Amino acid sequence: MVEAEGLTKVYEGGVLAVDGVSFSVAEGEIFGFLGPNGAGKTTTIKMLVTLLRPTGGSARVCGHDVVGSPNLVRRCVGIVFQDPALDRELTGRENLDYHARMYGLPREIRERRIGEVLDLVGLRERADWPVKRYSGGMMRRLELARGLMHYPRVLFLDEPTLGLDAQTRRAIWDYILTLKREEGVSIFLTTHYMEEADRLCDRVAIIDRGRILVSGAPGDLKSGLGGGGVLIARTPDPDGLAAVVGDLWGGARVTLGEGEVVAYVDDPGRRVPDLVRAADSAGVPLDSVEIRRPSLEDVYLRYTGRRIREEEASPAEVMRARMRARMRGR
Ligand SMILES: Nc1ncnc2c1ncn2[C@@H]1O[C@H](COP(=O)(O)OP(=O)(O)OP(=O)(O)O)[C@@H](O)[C@H]1O
Ligand SMILES: [Mg+2]
Repeated sequence: MVEAEGLTKVYEGGVLAVDGVSFSVAEGEIFGFLGPNGAGKTTTIKMLVTLLRPTGGSARVCGHDVVGSPNLVRRCVGIVFQDPALDRELTGRENLDYHARMYGLPREIRERRIGEVLDLVGLRERADWPVKRYSGGMMRRLELARGLMHYPRVLFLDEPTLGLDAQTRRAIWDYILTLKREEGVSIFLTTHYMEEADRLCDRVAIIDRGRILVSGAPGDLKSGLGGGGVLIARTPDPDGLAAVVGDLWGGARVTLGEGEVVAYVDDPGRRVPDLVRAADSAGVPLDSVEIRRPSLEDVYLRYTGRRIREEEASPAEVMRARMRARMRGR
């Protein structure tokens, strides 16, 4: 449904936002871009939905070239933007109807389809409320419904749960899985939430500074770390501790994080006593030791050498959150 080959965007002024990404999204699949602020996620989506012209490479959506046949591409895609874009004075139903008219859906189909998409996102009872009385999660659900109105074959979701609380986020995940199941639509989504990528995506690509570092099914990425488990040791002296780990378990793969050493090993629980003893005799202080099954976050750390700090919003994100709060308060 989506095929990108060396897709590239250099903005005016020379910012290389997307640096030759290649990937494909199969029919009925949820494919995700997981990456931090500024990674190039939104820029990629904008090129795929023909809002931005690539400066290099190519992409086809539903078999149509995004540069050569933009109108055919637009007809087959649904989009939910990163920033909310609803008319707050109109009701939910009116927002959907307006969108459907823009796509030229005839009246009888419009009315039936509005009912269908409202049911999909559980908003039928609130359909005739003005959107300004909706909660943030309800607005997001209405945007999902709107993205589906014209029967798109591919739905693009740019950070579908950004800024929502954990409970609302989980509810949105359920709706996204429902619409994948019931509409058979292919979904390309972006996120910087590890758990979101893990829960929703059949396949995920980790993107950083415009490049795909690795891609695959979340389960394969996790088992590709080697070892059956993860041992995370926090210390003021990561280099010293990495040397200790190297001496103990020569073959183990190790990643150095900020103030921590992460080792991918079999049966990590059994190894904790050895590590504590060895660190002690090497004079390397340990703050804490944690063991767990590998998560997508470990995959991310392994390939980027960093963690995504979910709580630490970028200035742009803080501004967006403020705008959302202001819009809700109006
Ligand atoms: N119109 C523009 N002109 C110049 N540079 C831009 C423009 N839009 C984005 N950029 C830059 O391109 C890079 C990628 O931005 P993009 O918005 O695609 O990232 P993102 O992964 O969506 O980030 P976020 O998680 O914050 O939404 C960033 O360095 C950004 O500053
Ligand atoms: Mg973005």
